[in-house]
Amino acid sequence: MDIALEELLENLKELTYSYFYSLNLGDNDLFLWLDKQFKNKKSGFNNYNLGDYGFKIGNVEIKNPIVSAPLAGISDNTYRIFANFFGCGLTFSEMITSYGVHYNHTKTIRMANITEYERPCALQIFGSDADIMAEAAQRLEGVADLIDINMGCPVPKIIKSGSGGYLLRDSYKIKAIIKKIKDKIDIPLTVKVRLGWDKNNINILEIAKIAEANGADAISIHGRTVKQGFSGNADYNYIKKVKKILDIPVIASGDIDSGEKALEVFEYTGCNGLMIGRKSQGAMWIFLKILLCLQYKKLSSLEPNLEWKKKFAILYLEFLIYFKGKEKAIKEFRKYLSWIFKGVRGISKVRKKFFKINEYNDVVDILDLIGGM
Ligand SMILES: Cc1cc2nc3c(=O)[nH]c(=O)nc-3n(C[C@H](O)[C@H](O)[C@H](O)COP(=O)(O)O)c2cc1C
Repeated sequence: MDIALEELLENLKELTYSYFYSLNLGDNDLFLWLDKQFKNKKSGFNNYNLGDYGFKIGNVEIKNPIVSAPLAGISDNTYRIFANFFGCGLTFSEMITSYGVHYNHTKTIRMANITEYERPCALQIFGSDADIMAEAAQRLEGVADLIDINMGCPVPKIIKSGSGGYLLRDSYKIKAIIKKIKDKIDIPLTVKVRLGWDKNNINILEIAKIAEANGADAISIHGRTVKQGFSGNADYNYIKKVKKILDIPVIASGDIDSGEKALEVFEYTGCNGLMIGRKSQGAMWIFLKILLCLQYKKLSSLEPNLEWKKKFAILYLEFLIYFKGKEKAIKEFRKYLSWIFKGVRGISKVRKKFFKINEYNDVVDILDLIGGM
């Protein structure tokens, strides 16, 4: 393995371990459990094992129900490695254009890179042409552990191209896409959907059945319609209904923002997996908190302290630099600073400076200011 990456991973291991200690759990069952999970974790392949809660997607073993969401512009290698270390049983890539794979665009191909420290990992593709999507899936099959199809994205540019959430308007097309891709690949195939196009066209029960009948090995459901975007609340009733009528695993998505909420959704819907998106942005420790809550039914209010968050920030930046180069990484890191230090007292006085960082040392200087206000 590359020495630079090895060093970063060692630091990440130490950081994760120090978070366990910061939880100040004492020498009780919980700590012993965590300690054991951590020591057993030899590499990214070895996710935290949550015994009875594990499940399988096709032939891929998912060791616990915590799943990191596909997040465009966020769920890159760095995000997925952190997600894996903080406990996810499965990670997802950002959505990848099937046309980009077809035309061999460098940027697209780079997005499809997976290290051994973020597996099992699903590469998510989007598109509107079943043949192109099947060809893309086939090309990515050698890299991915699973292929996922985006059938829920509400972004206007994606909808206009007939991809993402637009597909929910056309169940014949969904059938054709799933069938064609399934025929071309040997690794498991999953789909990620919303409840339907809008509140008058909720067709998730039909879509879920079509997906299963045509070869999908699991389904992730964001409990909103496409038209809803992110407004209102996620509706878990439909997820519960889908779980009752399918044999394949169901992953619930939408508004899971704490251990208690995760437990509630898990128990209410009977789903196999819990996908966490927005709440994990810059705050990957949420995965571990949820894992603890599932295992011990408590303990989700523990936040890492400020000094730990600063170490987290620097390490996150170093990973980003490793994967993307300094210039791109620093630019992208600006938004992470806001997320990581959200809610810290006096942060509003420093926030303006986040968007002016250009150098690694600018970040170090800013971190010195945080908390000293
Ligand atoms: C910034 C952002 C980017 C997203 N990108 C994708 C994506 O690429 N593919 C996808 O299927 N869903 C995407 N989603 C939806 C999430 O995966 C998830 O289903 C949704 O945010 C609801 O979960 P949450 O409430 O935990 O965030 C994105 C959401 C956000 C906020």
